[in-house]
Amino acid sequence: PALPPHVIVLFGATGDLSRRKLIPGLAHLALSALAPDIQVVGTSLEELDDDQFRAFAKESLDQFSHRALTTEQWELFASRLHYVPQGRGAEGLAAAVTAAEHELGGTAPRLHYLSVPPVAAPAVIKMIKDANLVEHSRVVMEKPFGTDLRSAVELNAGLHETFRERQIFRIDHFLGKEAAQNILAFRFANGLFEPIWNRNFIDHIQIDIPETLGLDKRAMFYESTGAYKDMVVTHLFQVLAFVAMEPPTALEPFAISEEKNKVFRSLLPINPRDVVRGQYAGYRDEPGVAPDSDTETFIALKCGLDNWRWAGVPFYLRTGKRMAEGQRIISIAFKEAPRSMFPANSGVGSQGPDHLTFDLADESKVSLSFYGKRPGPGMRMEKLSMQYSTDETSYAADVLEAYERLIMDAMRDDHTLFTTAEGIESLWDRSIPLLEDPPPVKSYPAGSWGPNSIHQLVAPSAWRLPF
Ligand code: BG6
Repeated sequence: PALPPHVIVLFGATGDLSRRKLIPGLAHLALSALAPDIQVVGTSLEELDDDQFRAFAKESLDQFSHRALTTEQWELFASRLHYVPQGRGAEGLAAAVTAAEHELGGTAPRLHYLSVPPVAAPAVIKMIKDANLVEHSRVVMEKPFGTDLRSAVELNAGLHETFRERQIFRIDHFLGKEAAQNILAFRFANGLFEPIWNRNFIDHIQIDIPETLGLDKRAMFYESTGAYKDMVVTHLFQVLAFVAMEPPTALEPFAISEEKNKVFRSLLPINPRDVVRGQYAGYRDEPGVAPDSDTETFIALKCGLDNWRWAGVPFYLRTGKRMAEGQRIISIAFKEAPRSMFPANSGVGSQGPDHLTFDLADESKVSLSFYGKRPGPGMRMEKLSMQYSTDETSYAADVLEAYERLIMDAMRDDHTLFTTAEGIESLWDRSIPLLEDPPPVKSYPAGSWGPNSIHQLVAPSAWRLPF
């Protein structure tokens, strides 16, 4: 069913995320039957008027929307867009929101979307409070949520002074990806996999998210975050929780976050010796980057969970900018057969262990690779693969972009795919040894898989990518 009318207040409305994801996502929701009655009030530090903001939105849609808009669709969406510069203060904001509510015929619940860096969040929260826009409102907090344990605790405390926990949605868009939710379906809707989902059968797990993308226009943001804070402490660990958690008792927010939080509590502190930090050659010459910058644009690490199911199983995580390929895979490597009855030259084991692979790309895939007999005389083995892909099925029209799904969930008050204060604080807590004593960054050529030492990190195993 369609959602009731809402005013979406978009803070950081002219930023990169807004341009790439939020405006296209809101356009899709507004123009579909999902959330036809939304008004958007954009705000940011830039002095724009409504028309200039609409022009910005038009460019964003032309460049980033997956679906082309007809002229009528664009005009309809444009009529829902309003802008108020943040410089107009709480009064200006309140007036813009009231005007948007009028368009919807009176009052409407509001969704404040804070697409702003952690340092800017407290001032925005104060502004919402001063504008008297706290009641009948929910607030979406973008990642990274804080930059270390202390700032995350402070941010949570500040939020709780203004909002009830129920009103707060800490977003991690990886959990809105279809394929991430498919991990839950795969594990808990079947009897087949869960019995082998543990240290007895699994050798190691890789979560590997290389990106070819560089900084684009985000040097300022990136210089103060780097790959660990931008990606690992948020997206990669959140995905890890879906892979590693115990079966929740129900598909409901408390049950799921409780199991995820248990995973985070059992995460062993990140040991700097198990971390490779990299920086692509040429990064320091990028506009906006300090000539002696120590920010990592790449990170690979080994971590582990200190619990009954996963004791001793290494989790290898990797992500970086300007790498050889853009991929988002979770790869489960199974232990080898205890002994082989096949001749030494049969090829068994020569192509690594059996793998189950989740691909978190927009066209999500799950594949299982294993040895099978190669047709012909003799007993030669080769790797076979079984694959499921949303690309090959007829669901394409139903697929929601991660942000669309999550904005919709926040509007309908569903916390299932959002993260809790406690979970995020545990992750920052486990990050303390690394943040206090980071290993020096090593240079890697743009377009590569990272510094050479990544191979030692996973030895005697190997990185699954490139396929
Ligand atoms: C964002 C990071 O959260 O996720 C970006 O800030 C990164 O640096 C992006 O590129 C990746 O998201 P996706 O959905 O394109 O894989």
